[in-house]
Amino acid sequence: MDISRRSLFKQAAGSVAFLSVIKSSNPVYGQTPDSTGDIRPRMRDSFDFGWKFIRGDPPGAQAPAFDDSSWRSLDLPHDWSIEGPVAENEPTGGAGGYFPTGMGWYRKRFELPEFCRDRKIIMEFDGIYQNSEVWINGTYLGRRPYGYVPFFYDLTPHLSFNRENVLAVKVDNSRQPSCRWYSGSGIYRHTWLLATHPLHVGYWGTFVTFPRVSEDAARVRIKTRVENSGADRADCTLVSSIIDREGNTVQSEEAVQEIGAQQEYGFEQQLAVNNPSLWSVENPYLYTVRSTVRLSGEVVDEHDTPIGIREAVFDADRGFLLNGKQVKLNGVCLHHDAGCVGAAVPDAVWERRLKILREMGCNAIRTSHNPYSAEFMDLCDRMGFLVMDEIFDEWKSGKGQLRGNGYSRYFDEWYERDVKNLIYRDRNHPSVVLWSAGNEVPDQSHPQGAEILRKLLDIFHREDPTRPVTVGCDQIMSEPLANRVRPEFLELLDVVGYNYVDRWRDRKEKYYSDDREAFPDRRVIGTESGSMGGTRGDYSGLFPSDSPRGFFGYSPGRRMDVEQLWKFVRTYDYVSGDFMWTGIDYLGEAFWPSKGAAGGVIDSCGFRKDGFYFYQSQWTDKPVLHLFPHWNWKGKEGRFVPVTCFTNCDTVELFLNGRSIGTKGYAFPRPGMEERWGNMPARARALRTTADLHLSWDVPYEPGTLKAVGTKNGEAVATLEISTTGDPAAIQLEVDRENIQADRRDVAHFTVKIVDDGGTVVPLADNEVTFELEGAGKLIGVDNGDMRSHEDYASNRRKAFYGLCLAIVQATADPGEIRLTATSPGLKPSSATVIAT
Ligand code: GAL
Repeated sequence: MDISRRSLFKQAAGSVAFLSVIKSSNPVYGQTPDSTGDIRPRMRDSFDFGWKFIRGDPPGAQAPAFDDSSWRSLDLPHDWSIEGPVAENEPTGGAGGYFPTGMGWYRKRFELPEFCRDRKIIMEFDGIYQNSEVWINGTYLGRRPYGYVPFFYDLTPHLSFNRENVLAVKVDNSRQPSCRWYSGSGIYRHTWLLATHPLHVGYWGTFVTFPRVSEDAARVRIKTRVENSGADRADCTLVSSIIDREGNTVQSEEAVQEIGAQQEYGFEQQLAVNNPSLWSVENPYLYTVRSTVRLSGEVVDEHDTPIGIREAVFDADRGFLLNGKQVKLNGVCLHHDAGCVGAAVPDAVWERRLKILREMGCNAIRTSHNPYSAEFMDLCDRMGFLVMDEIFDEWKSGKGQLRGNGYSRYFDEWYERDVKNLIYRDRNHPSVVLWSAGNEVPDQSHPQGAEILRKLLDIFHREDPTRPVTVGCDQIMSEPLANRVRPEFLELLDVVGYNYVDRWRDRKEKYYSDDREAFPDRRVIGTESGSMGGTRGDYSGLFPSDSPRGFFGYSPGRRMDVEQLWKFVRTYDYVSGDFMWTGIDYLGEAFWPSKGAAGGVIDSCGFRKDGFYFYQSQWTDKPVLHLFPHWNWKGKEGRFVPVTCFTNCDTVELFLNGRSIGTKGYAFPRPGMEERWGNMPARARALRTTADLHLSWDVPYEPGTLKAVGTKNGEAVATLEISTTGDPAAIQLEVDRENIQADRRDVAHFTVKIVDDGGTVVPLADNEVTFELEGAGKLIGVDNGDMRSHEDYASNRRKAFYGLCLAIVQATADPGEIRLTATSPGLKPSSATVIAT
């Protein structure tokens, strides 16, 4: 079978056997050719491969005949900022993490086969940062200032057949700083080419809602916009089917409608599903709505929409209810970069990160403060995360640090189109339970703020009447009064989002209480709160007098705030949940020499910090026992080291070199008597020495082993040992996956541990590691989580940071073994392999 017949188009430089890409990609909203190579009614192919790129602004680069032979060849997604180097005088400053920005051009040549001649051809961009302008064969298609929204162009009238087409994209990220965090620069998300019959389901043309949901039955309302871009009127038949995970059709409904030439029609159908498998955090069950369009008996379009049947409600008294059950949103705020890969994040990197967050017990993500990639949203659907889907950090009034270069520059002209595109792309995702129109927008306290909010709410409510809208407000109690959020602003919100609820005066301890009393009908959520971040492995703050770096590391004060807030959130049903700032470290929002923010409980490599285990101890039921700091305190013999334990065990006994240091325990909520005076339940009888949510002992240092034994209901359920280590002796290389797909996209993560001769990670090791790769793979980034490191991310070398570092390897199109070897002078090297299939 001729490969060009199977795929939608021939990609130029660097093209691959296309079928493998099609098979292994994850076409969500459309179909690709089937394995027999038939041309399907709707074809959606990746457009990521074989681009040319140059930094700068060469005149005339939009012209098809322009000579781009000297430009670099690359695949998308691509972020040129992350290629560095970082420099203190970069115009983006600390906001963008001191990475380079500027201008760049991308060009791609491609051929379309003859069968596409009568098709509608759409070019999809999921995100270009920023100010993109696009030309096809020299014809200008348009510009898009906002760098975080998806958009598309209709290429149909401008294409040549059986002749080369040239797509040119100009990206202007030169006005800086344009964003308060690291944005990346370039076409940093996936691109797709979509070909449909003239009679087809319109782009973002389905909207599926659930007017009634119960365990017994669900009503499913399917709205479908069918477009007839042909020259003749069409007698259109639309069949909408609901298909379960096993591929069985559960329900189907047919409708017939004549649609005039160049017209569209909005169908509305109601289907019922008996005994539906409801989508939930624990069981994120996805059905598919298949929309089949027939013309004169022939299938001319087939479009799939993954759906999750669920009912999501925010209630003023009971908080968040999913399918009628209370679910506390144990949330994290994230930013869209992923350390060494910058903004061009392979889907498997997010998959690993989300797995780690799930292990912590996190069930909710705030996409602060901008739309994320389509694939990220798909992962949240499949993995059962609840998403607060946010669009803006600025409305009409800008934030000081951006000096007019942020979104406020474009708000008036673009907000409506940008908001609509986000809603259209994301409104079928079961994971999305709350829209956020903005974060800490200065307009909240301005006289015009409520009017702007009303306009935004109109769009959200019109385009998606099923979900509430919030704004992350940071000025709810602020002083002076003139800065305070306007009451009429808060009144408009469906759910009031509190950023840092504990920030003002006695709210430090009262949190939402005053507002609860004053506004009992208010639905509330903590859209942003401080987390237990800090630099992984850095305990210099334990001995403040020894180190000027206390701020970056260990911070007992922050820990107390977090514990108290969590107690409140957990105790009061009316608080829907809380999103901590942040789950994972991110680039930008930094002060030189730091290039990123270490407020996460997971570092930029995905390595867990101590705070991770605090949340795990509160958010999961499995026994958690975590001790810190490490036990390498040479020179501090005899000095007291505060040893902290995060646990959900009833009691923990700590031993130093076999001697008991004491047994401690906490309980929350703290139980009292039951039934009659003096009758204490087992949990209440467990030893309690503190009202905190952690345990601590002051232990005079001596080298050796700290051992903790945790009990539940009187039984030992967990044991943990931390020992003084020897010097670095060897590298231990571990890989997170056995197999990856040979699709030029998939990745494996290799973790380096610097260990002593007993195999224990040496907590202060900073040895430089060199990576050597064999086989069909590409080393796409190295990192160690140190935000103050200025080492190159795209290198084959990295220093360990507190004992660890990371290498990310991407598959090529060739199957086979990929072997990574890590070496370092004086250390025993280590190798690990992954198979690309
Ligand atoms: C918040 C803001 C976040 C981030 C954070 C830093 O007020 O919403 O975007 O700037 O502060 O601590």
